[in-house]
Amino acid sequence: MSGTISALLYLVSSVCFIMALRGLSSPETARQGNMFGIVGMVIAIGTTLALPSVLSYETIILGIVIGGAIGTVIARRIQMTALPQLVAAFHSLVGLAACFVAIAAFFKPEAYGIGQPGAIGAASLIEMSLGLAIGAITFTGSIIAFGKLQGLVTGRPLVFPMQHPLNAALGIALVALIGWMIVDQSSTGFWLIFVVALALGFLLILPIGGADMPVVVSMLNSYSGWAACGIGFTLENSLLIVTGALVGSSGAILSYIMCKGMNRSFFNVILGGFGGETAAAAGGPGGDRSVKSGSADDAAFIMDNASSVIIVPGYGMAVAQAQHALREMGDMLKKNGVSVRYAIHPVAGRMPGHMNVLLAEANVPYDEVLELDEINRDFPQADVAFVIGANDVTNPAAKTDPTSPIYGMPILDVERAKTVLFVKRSMASGYAGVDNELFFRDNTMMLFGDAKKMCEEIVKALEH
Ligand code: TAP
Repeated sequence: MSGTISALLYLVSSVCFIMALRGLSSPETARQGNMFGIVGMVIAIGTTLALPSVLSYETIILGIVIGGAIGTVIARRIQMTALPQLVAAFHSLVGLAACFVAIAAFFKPEAYGIGQPGAIGAASLIEMSLGLAIGAITFTGSIIAFGKLQGLVTGRPLVFPMQHPLNAALGIALVALIGWMIVDQSSTGFWLIFVVALALGFLLILPIGGADMPVVVSMLNSYSGWAACGIGFTLENSLLIVTGALVGSSGAILSYIMCKGMNRSFFNVILGGFGGETAAAAGGPGGDRSVKSGSADDAAFIMDNASSVIIVPGYGMAVAQAQHALREMGDMLKKNGVSVRYAIHPVAGRMPGHMNVLLAEANVPYDEVLELDEINRDFPQADVAFVIGANDVTNPAAKTDPTSPIYGMPILDVERAKTVLFVKRSMASGYAGVDNELFFRDNTMMLFGDAKKMCEEIVKALEH
């Protein structure tokens, strides 16, 4: 295949990827976006396989078969709730791939047409050292993020004395080593970059608390994109440069949106330690204070007599897979003349868009699903806020308690509704480990139980 044709086909697949991102920005167009992504990827792989520089189809096919088989098994088995850690694990592989390409290019530059060992062009050295450094940081950082989200490493921030100075020293050392490597082409410098970057990825993510993990995962997503972009330059592959830049920038934008959603400064997240007070803040299930608890029948009665109900789903809805039963409940209420809407917090659940995906899966109409900014001012007019498996995203401590680890995070003002119904199994805290004072309020009724079972029972009660 000639260079011009492959460049054109790469351009077509780049456009497909851009259209895919555009489509994925809204649930209505997400399927179409996915189709664009698939078409773009097929063109990209087909074009790459047709390049004259391909030496061994056997190795490539073997890689596709093994990787594809593992990917298919994982995709079929993975629980929706475990997706964030899966994404983190996949990012670690992108980081590792960037390191492998950099290592191969440094020790066998002639295979890439970028010179001879010891006589590589400065531009290629910059690209490969950046690819190596970012790839290694992404690799170890993503492994720690995976461990934290999977519960293998404690979700609490692991802070130690001199942590920031140590990270700063390692960062400066990394820049100095990259400079040395570019000037001297020293293999010792090359390996030192690798080791220091691996340590930095580990040390940067370890102190970050569980509540900041979503931002970290999306930030690592961005890093993995830039690492791929670096590989693209080394391999002189324009498509890899474009896709790497797309992943890098969309990950960075997502991190920014999430920081805004949690009212966190990006630098505070990266500098770690957030959530250190989290464990201390969780003082157990409220001591001796009593709560009002009710049954599915009570909830059905209250909601059936309401004129407006706002449903606030959270992580517990995902765990219980309650979305279908919840939609059925919403449908019954609507049939009885109740206005039903869904309020989505930007970080509800465990990944961006988590609640939107589940509600879309249950065929909840998109126009009933509103973002925090669109619906927050409507809570005072709502008769019922039906909070199902959500906790942190409703916690008023975020507004009132400057010592709380979630202080400053915008929250859904459910307490302003006439009645707040909380569906959860116990008095346990949410992800950030902070007690929720709303449970004890006069206008709150706790509905203890599994979210799905509770919705099914409410539906039964509504039927009667
Ligand atoms: P959480 O604050 O984590 O609260 C979820 C609640 O669901 C828990 O209190 C739990 O209480 C309840 N629950 C669990 N399983 C349940 C079940 N089967 N049936 C009924 N209830 C169940 O969730 P949230 O309000 O959605 O807030 C999200 C939190 O996760 C935020 O702190 C956010 O920063 C963090 N986070 C978000 C993301 C993204 S990007 N969305 C990613 C990682 C972390 P019980 O145990 O008493 O049932």
